[in-house]
Amino acid sequence: MLNIGVLVSGSGTNLQAIIDAIEAKRLDAKIAVVISNKPDAFALTRAEKHGIDTRVIVKDAFPDRETFDAELVRVLNEHKVELVALAGFLRILTPVFTRAFPMRIMNIHPSLLPSFTGLDVQRKAIEYGVKFSGCTVHFVDEGLDTGPIIMQAVVPVTANDTTETLAKRILEEEHKIYPEAIRLYAEGKFKILGRRVLSAESGTVEASLENPPIKK
Ligand code: GAR
Repeated sequence: MLNIGVLVSGSGTNLQAIIDAIEAKRLDAKIAVVISNKPDAFALTRAEKHGIDTRVIVKDAFPDRETFDAELVRVLNEHKVELVALAGFLRILTPVFTRAFPMRIMNIHPSLLPSFTGLDVQRKAIEYGVKFSGCTVHFVDEGLDTGPIIMQAVVPVTANDTTETLAKRILEEEHKIYPEAIRLYAEGKFKILGRRVLSAESGTVEASLENPPIKK
């Protein structure tokens, strides 16, 4: 069974989606620890409710980013974590962290990478005028949102969208693809060719989408 460590900073709805997938036996994994860099993150309450070990590690308690990251690594290793899932963890990790878990850190990001990296990306997508956005699960490397893409989901951006309505539409897809990407990893269901993460599972994908829709 895959031992996961989840890093959070906020509300933890993606953490909840992973917990739900495990409890529904859709995902054969165990969350060994949830670590937050914010003491008041609601994600901690969610974890505690499900009997999951939690830790709060605050950046201000460390002289620099590297020693902070080294402490994260220490706690994850103490819990024998095999895969690290960043779930709304709003800190950029240094090589001290990324080199400790090569191709063993996943992140969920609320845009179709490589478009719109960083923060506040739903607003950036609306202001840029894209007709589709979505979310991406990717491996974390040393860049900002640059690692190999594992899975993506697309949602339309409508004329009436606000940052909030788009974020909500994207979040619903996040909750579907993050546990699924972790399942593929846990079951060894993909191979990695350079930057390309290729799923070994077959299924059908919509051949194309248009937005605005073409009247038929
Ligand atoms: C999610 O939308 C996630 O994609 C985003 O933070 C939110 C966390 O929500 N992550 C990033 O923007 C990372 N750059 P949650 O705490 O409810 O899971």
